[in-house]
Amino acid sequence: MNKQEVKKRIQKLRDEINHHRYLYHVEDKQEISDEALDSLKKELFDLEQKFPEFITKDSPTQRVGGEYVNKFKKVQHSVPMLSLQDAFSKDDMIAWLERLQKLTSAELEFFVEAKMDGLAISLLYEDGILIRAATRGNGKVGEDVTHNIKTIHSIPLRLYGIEDVYNFANEQARTPKFVEVRGEVYMRKKVFEKLNKQQLKNNEKVFANPRNAAAGTIRQLDPEVAAARELDFMAYSLVTDLGQKTHADSHKFLEKMGFRAGDYNQVCRSIDEVMKFYNQLNKKRDKLPYWIDGLVVQINDNKVFAELGIVGKAPRGVMALKFPAEQVTTQVLDIIVQVGRTGVLTPVAILKPVAVAGSVVSRATLHNMDEIKRLDVRIGDTVVIQKAGDIIPDIVKVLVNMRDGSEKVFQMPRSFMGSKVIRPEGEVNHYVENKNILAIEKEQIYHFVSKKAFDIDGLGPKIIDQLLEEGLIQDAADIFGLQVGDLEPLERFAEKAAHNLIQAIEKSKKILFSRFLYALGIRHVGEQTAVILADNFSDLDKLKQADLETLIQLPDLGDVVAKSIVEFFADENNIKFLQKLADYGVEIIYTEKKQINSKIKNKIFVLTGTLDNLTRDEAKEMIRNVGGKISSSVSKKTDYVIAGVQAGSKLDKAQKLGVKIISEKEFLKLVK
Ligand code: IVH
Repeated sequence: MNKQEVKKRIQKLRDEINHHRYLYHVEDKQEISDEALDSLKKELFDLEQKFPEFITKDSPTQRVGGEYVNKFKKVQHSVPMLSLQDAFSKDDMIAWLERLQKLTSAELEFFVEAKMDGLAISLLYEDGILIRAATRGNGKVGEDVTHNIKTIHSIPLRLYGIEDVYNFANEQARTPKFVEVRGEVYMRKKVFEKLNKQQLKNNEKVFANPRNAAAGTIRQLDPEVAAARELDFMAYSLVTDLGQKTHADSHKFLEKMGFRAGDYNQVCRSIDEVMKFYNQLNKKRDKLPYWIDGLVVQINDNKVFAELGIVGKAPRGVMALKFPAEQVTTQVLDIIVQVGRTGVLTPVAILKPVAVAGSVVSRATLHNMDEIKRLDVRIGDTVVIQKAGDIIPDIVKVLVNMRDGSEKVFQMPRSFMGSKVIRPEGEVNHYVENKNILAIEKEQIYHFVSKKAFDIDGLGPKIIDQLLEEGLIQDAADIFGLQVGDLEPLERFAEKAAHNLIQAIEKSKKILFSRFLYALGIRHVGEQTAVILADNFSDLDKLKQADLETLIQLPDLGDVVAKSIVEFFADENNIKFLQKLADYGVEIIYTEKKQINSKIKNKIFVLTGTLDNLTRDEAKEMIRNVGGKISSSVSKKTDYVIAGVQAGSKLDKAQKLGVKIISEKEFLKLVK
């Protein structure tokens, strides 16, 4: 290639790379793989190294210039960077509209967009090339952070199609020398989580939220650090007059010039429409990849907007309509340990239930012991919690002044569910040594909620796995402490599903004694034994106190079973578990002493086939309620076989042995 050809090739490469940048960062599309794009960048880089005279400021290779700044230069803003007035409700919005209507007779139309939770940045382009980026500072003077801003791929280093924009705006034919664009630098939730994990690992400061992380990153002196943290940019204001008549025009122009300019923009004609949009977005915001903290509602017509002027430091014609607080205070009732699939132990704070970001939550993750030490959080503390989208709430701060001396320091237990607890060298996390206990714990919970036990509708193994994984439950009792807000961030949990499940859990709290005993999963205590126990003990306390001799004397209860029962109630952990259930409001229903029907007392029944009006479980319950017994197979001892539709071999056997066979109808008559 001769020099001319090289120059051409370089230009082609830059245009192609820019095209893919735009697709990826503005339009969320990808036409070629990351590797292919890297290979284009590499070719460009190599050519530029060979021909440094062709390097330009806007070349995609110049995002990390490698220039480390010693300190930030001050920058004077040509037009002050103002702030926004806040509104929190429809009433606030109506009051605002009324104030405006006193000042203008124009028909008002609103441009509504998401309020990004990051920090404001001004970008200055000269002849289409990014020459300076500055923070807001005090509104008049900010700081030059160009070195870091250039690392953000959603910011074009060169504006595109500016002539197009100009023609479209139908103004003078010449591109203005300077163009200023403003918008929000922010960090995506995923990037934020990844960053915090890394910070923890490196024993560095954890950021409280994506906004702080973005602000901290922009204030780095070394652009390499900023580059590694992958910030994003959303443009919301075109300061230079390119002929835009409305705020909607500004957004259109910004997009043409190569910016992402809001994913949720809408023109509304009334406050009702604005509120409808607000409610829609508020519901969606947990699921968005970035944080938003409200809407920005701006008078769409630029002329009217300018005429409305400024009040204090904020334009009259624009309002920030905020979402409900994401940070609230509550108390730490307890700190428990939860075990994950890999055996990792995570301390979890049990909170006094509190509404945050519109839903009630009762738990916050504490990550690990280092985090507990960093926060110095103790049981009994009053804390600030924060809910960030699909992130389970975090404790961000302890209000130390609220302590009264009764707070308890938490310590990681030395053993957990019978396994030793270890902290491998160099690790921030603790683990259980014996990982087999995890599977057992899971099975116990599956059993606890199953049909013949607590029978919680909609709580299957998959959801239990997820709850365990996310640290929302540690044992079966924790299920009764769940709140709608705990569930909503989980996959497959829409608001409605979360409500339904919480309702089902609530309903299950009243439970028959026999079912309760069965749910406990005491070794050798199946459905039938649970019934015998419930029949023979007037309440749980009596059963807890029963000794081996008493138990062995019960009908059909051998010494293996009796021993297992005594052992169960002797285990301190089980007693704690029972207490926890009671604390959560689980109420055991003790049926009144049975109406023993002398015709049926101690008679043995066998069920076969499908009954018309009763489920098998219902029929069994009826038999037990009147003093009868149930067996699963027919023998000479059987008194009655209840035969339903499609009765099988049991019926044949009954006929052979001459056992009395009755229909469902006859059975119902008998038990009446
Ligand atoms: S318009 C006069 N639009 O919110 C200021 N601001 O609380 C014009 N922000 O400083 C700002 N998203 O940093 C506007 N779509 C958006 C925004 C937005 C986030 C920030 C901006 C501003 C702050 C005020």
